[in-house]
Amino acid sequence: MTIRFDGKVAVVTGAGHGIGREHALGLAARGAKVVVNDLGGARDGTGASATAAQAVVDEIVAAGGEAVANTDSVADPEGGKRIVEQAMDTWGRLDIAICNAGILRDRSFAKMTLDDFRAVMDVHVMGSVHVCHAAWPHMRAQQYGRIVLTTSVSGLFGNFGQANYGAAKMALVGLMNTLKIEGRKYNIHTNCIARIAMTRMTEDILAKGQQERFPPRAVTPAVLFLSSEQAPNGVIVQAAGGRYYVAAIVENSGVDLGPDATPEQIAERFDDIRDLSDARTVDK
Ligand SMILES: NC(=O)c1ccc[n+]([C@@H]2O[C@H](COP(=O)([O-])OP(=O)(O)OC[C@H]3O[C@@H](n4cnc5c(N)ncnc54)[C@H](O)[C@@H]3O)[C@@H](O)[C@H]2O)c1
Repeated sequence: MTIRFDGKVAVVTGAGHGIGREHALGLAARGAKVVVNDLGGARDGTGASATAAQAVVDEIVAAGGEAVANTDSVADPEGGKRIVEQAMDTWGRLDIAICNAGILRDRSFAKMTLDDFRAVMDVHVMGSVHVCHAAWPHMRAQQYGRIVLTTSVSGLFGNFGQANYGAAKMALVGLMNTLKIEGRKYNIHTNCIARIAMTRMTEDILAKGQQERFPPRAVTPAVLFLSSEQAPNGVIVQAAGGRYYVAAIVENSGVDLGPDATPEQIAERFDDIRDLSDARTVDK
């Protein structure tokens, strides 16, 4: 079995650097036509430059692929629309949306400004919503779509200094959980990718020895699978240095204390209430 994207059109946001660039190159190498979006700003989301997206387009074209550059900000609702319109205007369809653009504004919650919180939510959450919302009618009409949202272990499990980033990344799991249900009958599959990779985003987090262990290229095979016809629907796939695994939200059966339970009873039984030994995922 060979996974190919001939005849398929993809948009990859934040594809001028890092992991997004690898996704765009990987999709194009397997036949997809790609809108390479990147605002070209700094790691904290400030500034802009057209060169990042264009450089990746040039690389794809030099390798014999097809791609166009887009420099809109995903945080701008009109920008999200224009990214999708560019795919429609250039190639007349859109099959794959990889929502990857991201910024960091790390600080402990005590020191974090609301502007830093909002900026991160705007790029990660609303940026993904803007692109998916614009792509959705086209995917519904053609009865086919593959959406990959970029979550993070910071959202799934927490990380010091990343209240904004963690909240945003977990919001994307919530978005996936509903899109997986609403998209199912139109063959639109939505999944999340969480990963560890050495990029400018993690250059001061990953220790020197770890940097070679987690190249961005080791994330892309999972994203290509999630972009393919074989993609599951509603799965959080994790990728770190060549290891692929999943994360899931589970619930246990808990303890039935009846409708007149008291807080004291809950306190007494809390070890049983939180016992996850029979935990299972919930199929929706
Ligand atoms: N590197 C990791 O280990 C790691 C871990 C978990 C999640 N992630 C996520 O992976 C994604 C890619 O991160 P990366 O590590 O490759 O970082 P990166 O900084 O190299 O890439 C992010 C790209 O997004 C672009 N971007 C930022 N704001 C934008 C906007 N408003 N509109 C369009 N483009 C914009 C940037 O210009 C940049 O090219 C992010 O969503 C990040 O949160 C990365």
